[in-house]
Formats: sequence, structure tokens, C-alpha cells
Amino acid sequence: MREDLRFCPATVQDAAEVRAVAAAAFAARPSLQPPSAALTESVADVAADLDSAGGAVVRRGDAVLACLRLAFDDDVVRLRRVAVHPDHQGRGLGTRLALWTQAWLARRRLDGTLGEVSRIAVDVRRELPANKRFWEVLEYGVVPPRPGLPDHMLTLERALPAAVSVPDAEAMRALGAQLVPVLKPGDVVLLHGELGAGKTTFTQGLAAALEVRGAVTSPTFVIARVHPGSLPLVHVDAYRVGSGLEVDDLDLDTALEDSVTVVEWGEGLVEDLSADRLEVRIERSQAEADERRVVVLEAFGPRWRGVALPG
Ligand SMILES: Nc1ncnc2c1ncn2[C@@H]1O[C@H](COP(=O)(O)OP(=O)(O)O)[C@@H](O)[C@H]1O
Ligand SMILES: [Mg+2]
Repeated sequence: MREDLRFCPATVQDAAEVRAVAAAAFAARPSLQPPSAALTESVADVAADLDSAGGAVVRRGDAVLACLRLAFDDDVVRLRRVAVHPDHQGRGLGTRLALWTQAWLARRRLDGTLGEVSRIAVDVRRELPANKRFWEVLEYGVVPPRPGLPDHMLTLERALPAAVSVPDAEAMRALGAQLVPVLKPGDVVLLHGELGAGKTTFTQGLAAALEVRGAVTSPTFVIARVHPGSLPLVHVDAYRVGSGLEVDDLDLDTALEDSVTVVEWGEGLVEDLSADRLEVRIERSQAEADERRVVVLEAFGPRWRGVALPG
């Protein structure tokens, strides 16, 4: 079963925990001159940030494991004090928080609650090249410094991903089908979203447009199923996979480089399969009766640069 992490918007009530996680994470970095203000800010400072612009937290049970704050600046939203508690670093939580936040912001833009914002930015310390690299892997690129930015900081930026409104299951299949014209052998598509979100439904539309053989279902006991065709589809359901999925574990009679691989429930498990990958995040509406889903598509790696995605 999957790890019980919850990603949610941060509120003023979270200020004490957010301050504590940020302070612990920043204290664990190499000591820098001048030191980060994250080390000395008060709960009231953090509460003021959260009150004015909001933020995001990752929780397990009641504990906050990671957090960030937002700052809005014309058409840019800035991610600030991005922090993973030192006890929980090294397991991709920062990446997942960043991607969840991007998808959340993309949904807010679709809702019309984000105004003119079209880009996401982050400032990093020049002395910490690994931090710069972290954001580059997420397709952020260095931009010229804005006026007033201290010399020891660099700014990286990227476009906000696009969010698509999907009214019903048929539209979800159509969205899966729309992806097919851009797919090539070796492509990896990761589908994220809770049980019943529509990951298998999306895959069904994709499979139909690929014209591969065999019905796409939610596999109960198999992890992966190969659907033969001129461009074969490998459909992986990692719901029951505990940790780190290896290609060898899939025991496939086809080579991934000749196929399109679609993975449900791969978050935190299969990012290592391919640096070049497409991630599809499906979110249900809060209202149970509302069938609408919002889908955010994001591509990573050189394979996808310049490729127009549906939506
Ligand atoms: N907008 C929608 N998009 C996708 N599925 C929807 C939508 N509205 C209703 N559904 C229904 O929700 C269910 C989604 O199931 P499934 O695709 O198996 O989810 P998952 O694979 O994410 O667990 C299907 O029964 C589908 O018909
Ligand atoms: Mg499924």
C-alpha cells in the first residue's frame, strides 16, 4: 500500500510547524554568509507570510515533513523557504512537494483565482549548486536577477504547467487519445491521482488511439501488462509495490525502449526509470457528485522540450 502522505495548502494555523521545519532544514545546510533569514524568523513572521500569500505542507499523520511559502509578484509566483525536514531528506519529498505545488497553482489558474500569474520562480544561494541543480531537473532555468536581489542569490524560473478541465470519463479517454500523436518508442508516462481519479480511464483512451491489443483494466494481481501493437503499450499498476520499482521486477517480454510505458501509482517509485518522462496529475473535484476532474500535464527531460502537450 502507498505511503500515507498528504499534500495540502498551508494556513496561518500551520505557522509554528512551518517555521520549525524551515529552521531545521536551513540549519542543516552548510553555514553561509550572510546566513539565511529562515534561521531567525519568528512564528509571527511565518504567519504573516502564510496569511498574505499562502504556502504548502506535506504531512504524515499530524507531523509536517516539508513545506514552502508563496510570494506573488506581478505575473510570477515565487516559491520561498522550500524545506524538507532533515529527518526526511533524500527520498524525493522536495520534488514531490514542488510538483504538487505546481499542479495546485495550475488548477488555481484554471479556476481564475490566480490572476495574471503565468510563471513560477525560485531564488537559490549561489553557494549551493546542488539546490540550483534540483530546480534545473524540474525544468527551471536561470533568469537575469531582478532589481534588489542580493548578489549571493540566483533566480530560476519556468512556465506554470497547463491544467485541463475534464468533465466526464469520455473526455478523460479523449485526453489520453490526444497524447498519442506525440508519443514515441521509449516514452514513459506517469499517472498520479487517488483511487478512482481516472488513471485507468485515461490509459484506456490512450490504448484505443494506439490501437494496441487487449483490454486495459485495473490489474489486481499483475503489476504490468503488455498490450501488443505497432507501438506496444506497457501498462504498469504500482499500487501494491512497496518501494523502488526496478525494470527487472516488471518481468516483461518486451523492451521498454520499443514501447510506451504508462505507470499508475508510480510517484516516489519510478522517477528513476527515466529522466525523460511525462507526468499526468488527475485531481477530483471536492464535491462527491461532481464528476469533473482537473488534469495537469508536465514533461521532464530533453525528450519533451518543444513538444506541444494537449491542453
Ligand atoms: N471526469 C472523469 N474522468 C475520469 N473518470 C471519470 C470521470 N468521471 C467519472 N469517472 C469514472 O471514475 C472512474 C475512474 O476509475 P479509474 O479510471 O479506474 O481510476 P484510477 O485508475 O485512477 O483508480 C471510472 O468509473 C470512470 O467512469
Ligand atoms: Mg487504475
